This record gives sequence, C-alpha cells and structure tokens, in this order.
Amino acid sequence: MIYHIVKFGNPVLDKPSEKVTVFDEELEKLTEDMFESMYAAHGVGLAAPQIGIARRIAVIDVTFKEDPNARLVLINPEIIHTEGRHTQSEGCLSIPDFRENVTRPNKVTIRAQDVHGKVYEKTGEDLLARAFLHETDHLNGKLYISHISALKRDLMKRKIRKMMKAGEW
Ligand code: NI
Repeated sequence: MIYHIVKFGNPVLDKPSEKVTVFDEELEKLTEDMFESMYAAHGVGLAAPQIGIARRIAVIDVTFKEDPNARLVLINPEIIHTEGRHTQSEGCLSIPDFRENVTRPNKVTIRAQDVHGKVYEKTGEDLLARAFLHETDHLNGKLYISHISALKRDLMKRKIRKMMKAGEW
C-alpha cells in the first residue's frame, strides 16, 4: 500500500513521535508499506510522521533499490555518536521542490531496533549519516529547515504560504 505523504504545515510533522513497544505483523507490514511509499515518492528515507503516523519508525535506502542489503528499518532510533562536519544540499519529501545546504556531522552512529525488536548499532557516513540524522529529527518533530538560517527559513515559509493560498501545496 502506498501512503500519501503529508507536507509541511501538517502538525504531525512538528510533534515528537511515540515509542514503538509492540513488534508484530502489523509493524512489519507498515515498514514494507513505508518502503513502497518512499520509493514511489523517489526518496531515500521516510519517517512514519510523514505518512501521518506519529510512531518512532523510519526506513532508509540510500542506494534507492540498488542494494537490497542497504534497506534499513529504524525503530526507536537514537543518535549515539557523531563526528566531523559536512555541508550538502538536502531536501525532504514533506517539503517538495525545495532544497537547501545543511551542515551536519558526516559520520553518525545510531542505536535502533529492527522490525523484530532486536537492538542494533550502525555507523553511516556521508549520505547515510545525513539520512540517520534527518529521519531521527523527523521522529523528534524536527524538519531539516530548523538547521538553516532564519532568513532562508522565513523565505521558504513565505513561498510555501503563497503556494498554500494558491492551492498548490
Ligand atoms: Ni524528510
């Protein structure tokens, strides 16, 4: 099932998501649907609040289907270590057609649970590190635009408000 992706302006994107405590078939199906929804939207990461579900679940595939082993399910993820700094253009499926340079650590270790509840740790660099941070931010009710200058953010918000008024958002 492909979910509709909610956009900036929807309050579900601004609130911290709830911890997952039940690891059942429903959760497994949801993560599969999240991959399907992410691929359909041409994304490399998707967090549950982006489909209107405020639970601490995210999926990532920075290879976009090329490597099946690159598919990652992050349940209740936590950032446990970061290193370095890297600036790169970043976007979000919930803020379509906008991109901004964002400076973030370029080596990141997370601790998360897989779809069966098993705890794992994984270190990612570059795009994967960025995805770990971006998706974990989503679960904390934060968007990447909180990492850009207030000036750029206000400009972007003004453009979005205009699009909303025109019924284009
Ligand atoms: Ni995003």
